[in-house]
Amino acid sequence: MILALGCDHGGYSLKEAVKNHIRENYKDIKMVDLGTNSEESVDYPVYGKLCGEAVASKKADLGIVFCGTGIGISIAANKVKGVRCGLCTSVEMAHLTKQHNNANMISLGGRTTSPELACRIVDEWLKTDFEGGRHQRRVDMLDAE
Ligand code: RB5
Repeated sequence: MILALGCDHGGYSLKEAVKNHIRENYKDIKMVDLGTNSEESVDYPVYGKLCGEAVASKKADLGIVFCGTGIGISIAANKVKGVRCGLCTSVEMAHLTKQHNNANMISLGGRTTSPELACRIVDEWLKTDFEGGRHQRRVDMLDAE
């Protein structure tokens, strides 16, 4: 499984924490880090789009994006057709965005979510299955837009 990662300066440190967590705990996940790679100010739309395109084109199976709040970069990722990026601030949101939205990306806020919570959110999203059924119809409607 290939996981793409992208962030701006506000999400850089959380991206590094999540990257380490995944490297240590998921031997079957190959990560592709699309940057940014420092706390120097950059524009989140660039990295949201880059990561979204990696997922939409199937170069990556899933993606995680990070900015200060997770909001701006999730908006950018969601502009790429085929991306369903859920902003997660709790483990429950991570569970539901996979179960109901079949989110192929999540976003996290480096200034709003602790590394410990972020890693639990990622674990929950990775282990949860899409429920299908009535949710499949709704996801199909999203992807048809
Ligand atoms: C950058 O200062 C900040 O605006 C960005 O990281 C993010 O929070 C935007 O939604």
